[in-house]
Amino acid sequence: MNPILSLARPEIRAIQPYSHAAWLPSLTRLHANEAPWRPAGDTTHAGLNRYPEPQPRALIRRLAELYGVPESSLLVARGSDEAIDLLSRIYLRAGTDCILQCSPTFGMYQMAARIQGADVVEVPLDRAHGWSVDPEMVLAAWRPTVKLVYLCSPNNPTANLLDVGALEALCKALEGKAIVVIDEAYIEWSRSASLTPWLSRYPTLAILRTLSKAHALAGARIGALLAAPELIQLAKRVIPPYSLAQPTVEAALHALEPAEIAASQVRLDTLLAEREYLRRGLEASPLVEKVWPSDTNFLLIDCRDADRFMRESIAGGSIVRDLRANPALPRSLRVSVGTRAENNALLASLEPA
Ligand SMILES: Cc1ncc(COP(=O)(O)O)c(C=O)c1O
Repeated sequence: MNPILSLARPEIRAIQPYSHAAWLPSLTRLHANEAPWRPAGDTTHAGLNRYPEPQPRALIRRLAELYGVPESSLLVARGSDEAIDLLSRIYLRAGTDCILQCSPTFGMYQMAARIQGADVVEVPLDRAHGWSVDPEMVLAAWRPTVKLVYLCSPNNPTANLLDVGALEALCKALEGKAIVVIDEAYIEWSRSASLTPWLSRYPTLAILRTLSKAHALAGARIGALLAAPELIQLAKRVIPPYSLAQPTVEAALHALEPAEIAASQVRLDTLLAEREYLRRGLEASPLVEKVWPSDTNFLLIDCRDADRFMRESIAGGSIVRDLRANPALPRSLRVSVGTRAENNALLASLEPA
C-alpha cells in the first residue's frame, strides 16, 4: 500500500468523504438551507448569506502558481495551524503514535499531537552550532510509531534556516517511514528557495506555507498544505466543508494579484533592512546579551535581565514574547520586527532613564 495511506489511521482511510451541497454557482441555490437575502454591511462579492466554495478553485489555482506545485498537491486551510491539526488527526492514533520535533520549535506541533492523544519525541537543536539539526540524532530517535516528523525552516523561535543537506538526508532516510513535514512559514524572509520542488522526489514529504507572514494576512487565516495528491485527498476528508470564510477567500485572492505580490516584495525588503536596524539597536542595549542571527521577521535575543526588558518594554507600550518557560531558552525573548516607529519606540523604552 502507498505509505501515505498505510501510515494513516485506518478509520480515516475508511471514512466516506462528507457530501456537501454541490457547487454550481450558475444555478439558483435552493439546496443549502441558506437565507436568500444579504445581511446589512455585506461587501463580499459572493454574499455572506451563501456558504463559501469548499476548497475555492480560483484560490487553489493562484496558490499553486505561487508555490509552483500542481493544484492536486495543494489544500487551503485556516492558516497552517489548521494544516497541522489535520495532519495530526489523519496520522496519529491516540495512545499509540507520536510526532518527532526538533526543539525548541513552534508550539502547535506538540499541542495538536497532545490534543489527539499522541506523544511527542523531542530531539534538541544544537545551540552551540547556531541551533542546527543533527540528522543522525533524529534518525536515532525515530521509531515506527513516529508518524510525523516536523522540521521548521526557518525555525520559530530560533530564527535560523535548517541546513538543506540535513533536511535532504532526513527526507531520504525517512522515505515511506513517516510523513516529513517541513514548515516554511517564514521562508520568504530568508531569501532562500522553498523546498517545494522536493515534493515530486519524496512522496511522503509535506510542506506547510502560509499567507500570514510575508503576505501580511495573519488575520485572514490562510495556509496551505502541499503534499502528494493522495495526502491531499485524505485531508479533504477531514477538513470541515466550509472551513474558509468568504471574506478571507476574497482578501487572499486580492493579495495574490500580481501588483500586490510586487508591492509585498518591496515591503519585504524594507522589513529586512528594518531587522538589521533593530538588531543593532538591541545589541547596543545593556539588557541584551546576544541577538541571534535571523532568517525571519523576528529576532531571538538572550537577555542579561529579561524581567527588566519585559517590564520596560510594556511600560513603553510594546510587548515582546517571553520564551523563558522553555527550558532550552532560559534567558530568551522573541521580538518581531515592526515599522521604524515601532522599533524606535521599543528601543527607546530600553534606554536607561
Ligand atoms: C513556524 C510556524 N508555523 C506555522 C504557524 C502558524 O501560522 P498560520 O497563521 O498560517 O496558522 C506559525 C505562526 O506563528 C509559525 O511560527
